[in-house]
Amino acid sequence: MKVLIVGSGGREHALAWKIAQSPRVEKLYCAPGNAGISQYAECVAIGAMEFEKLADFAEENEIGLTVVGMDDPLVGGIVDVFEARGLRVFGPRKNAAILEGSKAFSKDLMKKYGIPTAAYENFDDPKAALQYLETEAKFPIVLKADGLALGKGVLICQNLEEAKAGVRTIMEDRQFGAAGNRMVIEEFMTGREVSVLSFVDGKTIRCMTSAQDHKRAGDGDTGLNTGGMGTFSPSPFYTEEVEAFCEKHIFQPTVDAMAAEGRPFKGIIFFGLMLTPEGPRVLEYNARFGDPEAQVVLPRMKNDIVDVFEACIDGTLDRIDLQFEDNACVCVVLASAGYPVKYEKGLEIRGLEKFQGRDDCFVFHAGTAFKDGKIVTNGGRVLGVTAKGKTLKEARANAYEAVKWVDFDNKYCRNDIGKAIDEA
Ligand code: AMP
Ligand code: GLY
Repeated sequence: MKVLIVGSGGREHALAWKIAQSPRVEKLYCAPGNAGISQYAECVAIGAMEFEKLADFAEENEIGLTVVGMDDPLVGGIVDVFEARGLRVFGPRKNAAILEGSKAFSKDLMKKYGIPTAAYENFDDPKAALQYLETEAKFPIVLKADGLALGKGVLICQNLEEAKAGVRTIMEDRQFGAAGNRMVIEEFMTGREVSVLSFVDGKTIRCMTSAQDHKRAGDGDTGLNTGGMGTFSPSPFYTEEVEAFCEKHIFQPTVDAMAAEGRPFKGIIFFGLMLTPEGPRVLEYNARFGDPEAQVVLPRMKNDIVDVFEACIDGTLDRIDLQFEDNACVCVVLASAGYPVKYEKGLEIRGLEKFQGRDDCFVFHAGTAFKDGKIVTNGGRVLGVTAKGKTLKEARANAYEAVKWVDFDNKYCRNDIGKAIDEA
């Protein structure tokens, strides 16, 4: 089978690495891909939002399966375009990807079906939002742009002044563009965060092993929100008791709710959970693998992932026994100093060859390109250095050791990825 991956980040590199291991795959393509992905896949210069061009490519090259990694094309309806042309594709249709594409939709869905989440109100008028803040809000409070905003559309406001400024940022100044046409204002929750990724075939759900991201740019969870600075898997805080609660009240109920709404979900549901003192609550849904969650979950997965993708498409996921290795994995993101605001690109990366041929540590490329035969930085997040270990502590030590192998000017990483492990 020939497989096409749509996307260009560290998540897509991890997907390419995993898909390339399937004996069923004879040729792998990635559009647009990056320098690291080109080790496993032929990179094709078509953008992830060029749906018709991608479908033309899939048709001309007899692609048997297209896997969409990114949120924008999914929310934009790439799966519908492929299906209309009779092409096999893994991911939710537009009417299901709205689970990630509209926070107001997902909050209303959870409320309607009794899925535990923070109390909230939706607003499409900034005046009404300001009025609510002045009369009813308790602080801190959380403001969320309704649409996709590169993980940056969430503002945690400590007081009324900050919250009013937040409404202006989202709804009036439109800092996150059309994502700010609507806004959710929700209760601030406290607790540990856990990410659970799952495969879904419209009715059956199979959860993967848990993970935890570190969203802030600086050590000790300081600085701006980023796409994610590092992950570990599994989360020691995701106990059997927590899992049992989530299975009963969150996972299957979400799949059933989408089906009941006439929006059957096929693809990946990423549950962003907060383990509050009152129990697990949904922070957010994503309609795709997390980045960099995929970089620690996929290396631990035992199944042939192509079989699982196909079972989701065919509605036969109930026949799949999803299995993960009994070990741990840690990913430390190497960024360019200045990320997520302003950073240089085009800096030469040295030391990548040290990862060649290893099956205990990997370097997944997030933002890299070829320049004059060399691999250079091409984004804020540059690499995801990932290592396995028997335990989380061992995996973390291995990952930070491997971080030393690679170098580029302005290399920056957090030094406390997985520090929470020590408190478990
Ligand atoms: P989201 O994109 O909805 O996951 O939000 C990004 C980050 O903001 C989350 O990972 C949390 O750290 C934080 N966050 C979002 N919603 C809340 C909430 N209701 N209470 C506390 N923190 C939140
Ligand atoms: N790492 C969080 C995300 O992919 O949204």
